[in-house]
Amino acid sequence: MQSDKIQIFDTTLRDGEQVPGCKLDTQQKLVIAERLDFLGVDVIEAGFPVSSPGDFISVQEIAKLVKNATVCGLTRAVKKDIEVAADALRLASKPRIHTGIGTSDSHIQYKFNASKEEVIRRAKEAVSYAKNFVDDVEFYAEDAGRTDNAFLAKVCEEVIKSGATVLNIPDTTGYCLPEEYGAKIKYLKDNVKGIEKVIISCHCHNDLGLATANSIAGAINGARQIECTVNGIGERAGNTALEEVVMILKQHPYLNLQTDINTKLLYDTSMMVRERMGMPVQPNKAIVGANAFAHSSGIHQDGVIKNRETYEIIDPADVGVTESAIVLTARSGRAALAYRAKKIGYELTKIQLDTAYKTFLQFADRQKEVIDEDIHQIMKQVNKISKIAIA
Ligand code: KIV
Ligand code: ZN
Repeated sequence: MQSDKIQIFDTTLRDGEQVPGCKLDTQQKLVIAERLDFLGVDVIEAGFPVSSPGDFISVQEIAKLVKNATVCGLTRAVKKDIEVAADALRLASKPRIHTGIGTSDSHIQYKFNASKEEVIRRAKEAVSYAKNFVDDVEFYAEDAGRTDNAFLAKVCEEVIKSGATVLNIPDTTGYCLPEEYGAKIKYLKDNVKGIEKVIISCHCHNDLGLATANSIAGAINGARQIECTVNGIGERAGNTALEEVVMILKQHPYLNLQTDINTKLLYDTSMMVRERMGMPVQPNKAIVGANAFAHSSGIHQDGVIKNRETYEIIDPADVGVTESAIVLTARSGRAALAYRAKKIGYELTKIQLDTAYKTFLQFADRQKEVIDEDIHQIMKQVNKISKIAIA
């Protein structure tokens, strides 16, 4: 069966960059935008042009630079925002305006102090106004995760009539469970007139650690765009991580959903974003963390040395990591020591390995990790007893 394409909408430079400490200047944003285009993302959300002159210039420059991806600018459902975004996107070969308004009871009551009818009116007006400038208009229903499905469906139906091409259903507060978010997407597919004319997009935040799971649930239920950031950076606990959704879809081909991302560039892109934004990645982060392909327990190391697939579901080369790491600690066994010794040039006999292992354990009990320098020391001692062959 032919697989369906999931569009990757990257918002590293908008939802990601608005995090304290992640601010970039235009030049740095251009470097990242060029990399995202090369990586194969379908849409780059370049910024929120009305928010500051700097953001306006960044969106304008990115719009000029990017060759393949659609370049998108965020707005509120406010005419001035839309005019400024349209201006910033003027030279983009594929421009998109991303406009929207809060739809949950909490947003309607506390943010807008308005009625539901008024919110629908503003939503329609914003989409119609944006259509004067660009064909491609994405509408977001902010806090859709906590919006009553019947009202959300009504809003969606109305903005489709006004010309929206993409419907973004954000779980702005990261509240939904995957089943609930998936059911929301299905509800919209089943109940919104005209839904077949638009792409449904998932935009999930990670407050409960469910952003990736929710985005995948959305895609399984009919969404065809996922909004995400490199390394999952974003407001509070972050957004859906690009590298996670891409690899989930790749590793589960029976879902028949695929992206155009060149996965071999994922690790490098992650490094580029963490370095430029000064935002480190936790070592146990899926796909791109320092420990994502590192094995430290003896049982796991023995398995991986015999066959990588015993404890790895992803070939590290597929995401641009050179190879799995066998980290030597006090929990490592002989197989791991022999493997690492061989990597740096020592071919040990069984008796030599037994001797080396005893010394190795003394090193390992004293320190967190035994590194190559320590292995050379250990081998020197073994060599005094019997000559080691060069591997
Ligand atoms: O999380 C959110 O709702 C957003 C919208 C502005 C798209 O970032
Ligand atoms: Zn967001």
